[in-house]
Amino acid sequence: MKKIIIIGGKGTPVVIAEQIQNAIDKFQMDLEILGFAFDDESFGKEINGYPILEKTYNVYEKYKDHKDVYFIFSLYRSDVIKERIALRNSYGIPLDRYINFIHPLATVAQSAKLGYGNIILANVVINPNVILGNFNTFNSNALVGHDTIMGNSNFLAGHSIIGSNLKIGNGNFFGLNSSSKNFVEIKDYNIIGMAANVVKDVESNQILIGNPAKPLK
Ligand SMILES: CC(C)(COP(=O)(O)OP(=O)(O)OC[C@H]1O[C@@H](n2cnc3c(N)ncnc32)[C@H](O)[C@@H]1OP(=O)(O)O)[C@@H](O)C(=O)NCCC(=O)NCCS
Repeated sequence: MKKIIIIGGKGTPVVIAEQIQNAIDKFQMDLEILGFAFDDESFGKEINGYPILEKTYNVYEKYKDHKDVYFIFSLYRSDVIKERIALRNSYGIPLDRYINFIHPLATVAQSAKLGYGNIILANVVINPNVILGNFNTFNSNALVGHDTIMGNSNFLAGHSIIGSNLKIGNGNFFGLNSSSKNFVEIKDYNIIGMAANVVKDVESNQILIGNPAKPLK
């Protein structure tokens, strides 16, 4: 059985914990949530019934020899994504100690390839020949079309739709109910607003809104 520690503690990390618990209770997934690693002491000793085990920067040292313990990194904030990636790298946790969690109600094509640390929540669909890097988060009802290639540390909010054959870089945020057209290239660290429709290639470091999506001025 794999034991899981979630690094993070507010918002999405709690959603992830609840979905893992649901997978354990309703689908007999062979996992156990040990608790959270989180630095904000105002949260006290537990979050939503799970203990805060350790500070984020100490957690690997404490658990590195417990080979059945795996980590999820979910200290996510779209506006400081580069800092959060640097923070994650500073922990020195080997990639293979980050679990890919796929909720049993998600559909991930057999031909899709995943790196490490990807979180795929209920009702997500990942279609054939998709290639995912590491640390991507797919909230419920997100869809990734066939043959799309995605790098690392992207975050898809609920109901965000990525078409087929896209090339997506790193650290992008896709807002609730956004759509991105087939064959488009989206580079790095962009924020795609809620309900935006991306129909053309996107360079890096932009905030896009509307239909068709344009940079927020
Ligand atoms: C695009 C976004 C990042 C902009 O945030 P922001 O920089 O704080 O922008 P503001 O809220 O100050 O809005 C700036 C302007 O853009 C408009 N706007 C903001 N988001 C918009 C959107 N998604 N679509 C269309 N217009 C939008 C606002 O109405 C405002 O217009 P105004 O200047 O004419 O009044 C944000 O609105 C957004 O869509 N975030 C995604 C939310 C989401 O999906 N959350 C999921 C969490 S899991």
